[in-house]
Amino acid sequence: MPDAKIVKLTDESNNRSSELPLVTGTLGPSCIDLGTLYRDTGHFTYDPGYGSTASTRSAITYIDGDEGVLLYRGYPIEQLAEHSNFLEVSYLLLNGELPKQAEFAAFEHQITHHTMMHESLKNFFQGFHHNAHPMAMLAASVASLSAFYHDDLDVDNPDDRRLAAIRLIAKMPTIAAAAYRYSIGWPMRYPRNNLEYVTRFLHMMFEVPSEPLMLNPVAAKALDLLFILHADHEQNASTSTVRLVGSTGANPYASIAAGITALWGPAHGGANEAVLKMLEEIGTPDKVETAVRRAKDKNDNFRLMGFGHRVYKNFDPRARIIREMCHKVLAELGVNDPLLDVAMKLEEAALKDDYFVERKLYPNVDFYSGIIYKALGIPTEMFTVMFAIARTAGWIAHWIEQHETPGARIGRPRQVYTGAVPRDFIPAAKR
Ligand code: ACO
Repeated sequence: MPDAKIVKLTDESNNRSSELPLVTGTLGPSCIDLGTLYRDTGHFTYDPGYGSTASTRSAITYIDGDEGVLLYRGYPIEQLAEHSNFLEVSYLLLNGELPKQAEFAAFEHQITHHTMMHESLKNFFQGFHHNAHPMAMLAASVASLSAFYHDDLDVDNPDDRRLAAIRLIAKMPTIAAAAYRYSIGWPMRYPRNNLEYVTRFLHMMFEVPSEPLMLNPVAAKALDLLFILHADHEQNASTSTVRLVGSTGANPYASIAAGITALWGPAHGGANEAVLKMLEEIGTPDKVETAVRRAKDKNDNFRLMGFGHRVYKNFDPRARIIREMCHKVLAELGVNDPLLDVAMKLEEAALKDDYFVERKLYPNVDFYSGIIYKALGIPTEMFTVMFAIARTAGWIAHWIEQHETPGARIGRPRQVYTGAVPRDFIPAAKR
């Protein structure tokens, strides 16, 4: 809601000015509402990368990057990580409140009974080359869900929106596990309703038809924690993509599929895969110094993957939680991973290096998540898929919020045109 304060912007070259109201939320800096700027002054704003631009109002997640604060619906991530579980967090993101016991039971029941994939969708996988990246299979399969649920997909109907949210959260692990099993030539497993969300997923991933899977509970606990930490992160690149696609009225499956492709890039969710590849490339702790030197060299494209964040310029609160879990998982699963030594050395070297200190480049959530995934036996190509399963809860919560917000408009940025000025067409023979 615009408050009484006004910021006045004047272009002194022509004395045109605009009185712009300040928009304030419940936390965080206020924003200048630029709605009338072009009309009053003839200027657009220029903010590549949207470093200073709020694209929407949202009541879902709050981040204070300077203080290292992350809240889902007001609850600190540290408390949710300690006391909650991924499915409860998904409910919270979607509904705004923590569920009462009966509400949670009903939600879990709904999710559990929407986990199956349509048998025809299973057949789609046969069309992929055996070494297709699982993110490619995930994006394509999720987009194709709209072909299966066409009849109950009125984006203006709140019940249809909610059903789509349930379906997406429920089916994402099934599709992800199917993509993995297809890539290694294993038969797909059906979801088992007697298991909880994360355990069910691990069974779909790793159970072979010939013998029961002996699962260490710490594996499910660790994965659940990672899912909580990745569930939402306000207007990041993939969520903004979901909202931009959603703003056109596109269906939720198409919107979330677009979010998946945005997540794939190494500057975003693809970073966890890139971290592991980087650690493997570095190989041993004695090579860390060279890696740090290369990361600082502006003539070298090499960056320390898993370091830096657009918003967190102090520390990433999720990285702190994950770091602890990382050590616990490796100890309890009896994994002695030399890559962890490389990671520790790298973290230590970067944190005391002026280049990283001055630029406030701290390890982000993806720095440790890859090591945990590796310890759980999840292959590197699946790391970003794990992220996508968790982020689906946030994406669909944002998509629903967008549709519940009155007066929403199609997302349509402006540009600074730098191309040719008007000129006359020259016939081919005269060029
Ligand atoms: N290694 C080396 N230098 C870095 C790194 C890095 N990982 N990250 C930033 N820098 C440097 C930049 O070169 C720049 O230096 P300069 O001021 O001398 O030009 C300065 O730090 C600021 O960096 P920007 O790229 O402007 O920061 P921005 O906020 O745009 O980018 C990003 C953030 C994309 C996360 C960046 O830090 C990065 O590429 N990190 C590695 C990839 C990564 O881990 N991504 C995961 C993000 S978390 C997530 O999506 C879940």
